[in-house]
Amino acid sequence: MDNCKRAMILGTGRAIPEKVLTNADLEKMVDTNDAWIVERSGIRTRHIVEPGTPLSSLAAEAGKKALEDAGLSAKDVDLIILGTVTGDMKFPATACFVQTLIGADNAAAFDLSAACSGFLYGLQLADSLIRTGIHQRILVIGGEILTSMVNWEDRNTCVLFGDGAGAVVLGPTQQDRGILATDIGANGNFSNLLYNPGCGSLNMPTPENARDKLHTLRMEGREVFRHAVVCMSRTMKKSLKASGLATEDLELVISHQANLRIIEALGKRLKLTEKQTYVNVDRYGNTSAASIPIALDEARRDGRVKEGDLVGLVTFGAGFTWGSSIIRL
Ligand code: UT7
Repeated sequence: MDNCKRAMILGTGRAIPEKVLTNADLEKMVDTNDAWIVERSGIRTRHIVEPGTPLSSLAAEAGKKALEDAGLSAKDVDLIILGTVTGDMKFPATACFVQTLIGADNAAAFDLSAACSGFLYGLQLADSLIRTGIHQRILVIGGEILTSMVNWEDRNTCVLFGDGAGAVVLGPTQQDRGILATDIGANGNFSNLLYNPGCGSLNMPTPENARDKLHTLRMEGREVFRHAVVCMSRTMKKSLKASGLATEDLELVISHQANLRIIEALGKRLKLTEKQTYVNVDRYGNTSAASIPIALDEARRDGRVKEGDLVGLVTFGAGFTWGSSIIRL
């Protein structure tokens, strides 16, 4: 498109599994209690898939809804980027299954691995591809079935995660709206604080590794918490500076929904008001790459934000990876 300034959001969608796992349910599974989970994480429920449900089905549902919202056909899409670490299989990319499920015959498709930052990494890439004119309609999806890699005997982690998917469709615009700034970063020195050691070439699927549950995720929660607050506040400030805006200009900030205390600590650092802070971690838990697009879709459909509003998105995850974006809807 001639004179394309940037990419804008044309539509959003989400897919949430019906089944709800409550803190009371978890009390029957591990040595935990509702009071601890609520006080330390703010989580009350999380939605989880029935065993055997593949990520592609959630991702396709979210993608379809985003296309409907945008008034577009799947045939209009020329690229699908799926941020996930819990795809259907190691290969082919789950984005290819999504392509088939929604009928996006004209699209290229690939998965992007940046853990909880997968959606914002994808958003930055999609914005760049649209700005250069290489692609015109990109479906960016963040989706996870994290319960597929949870160790249900580890109370340190199993109470935190949920399943879901969220999506946006992006297209070019010449207007003064859309993705105004993005920032992404990584620091692999901390890869040992949040990781899934199995399922890759490093640790083959041997009986010993299966016994040691190497296919489940490991996390040093307290350390991750500390870095999350620092890195999210830093990346958000970078994106604000790049867009020439201040926090008070933002209608809403959607930060990665991992822990209410992290969201509150970030809000303090950025001097956000309660009205500017989006919270749904109490209902969904940590859905990794899905958390931001799910929240963005909710905020739009519930009227919490409207066309023309400035919204900040910010995330942090395994890697470590992080990212942020400032968008005028
Ligand atoms: O998505 C990527 C980003 N991920 C995150 O941002 C997660 C970051 N981390 C966190 O959210 C928090 O660190 C947690 C919620 C994971 C843990 O909260 P915490 O306040 O850091 O607790 P802790 O790990 O320091 O554990 C405190 C105590 C320990 O007992 P002792 O050693 O003090 O006796 C734990 O064994 O709480 C115990 N504990 C639990 N007790 C009841 C840990 N998990 C549980 C549990 N129920 N589920």
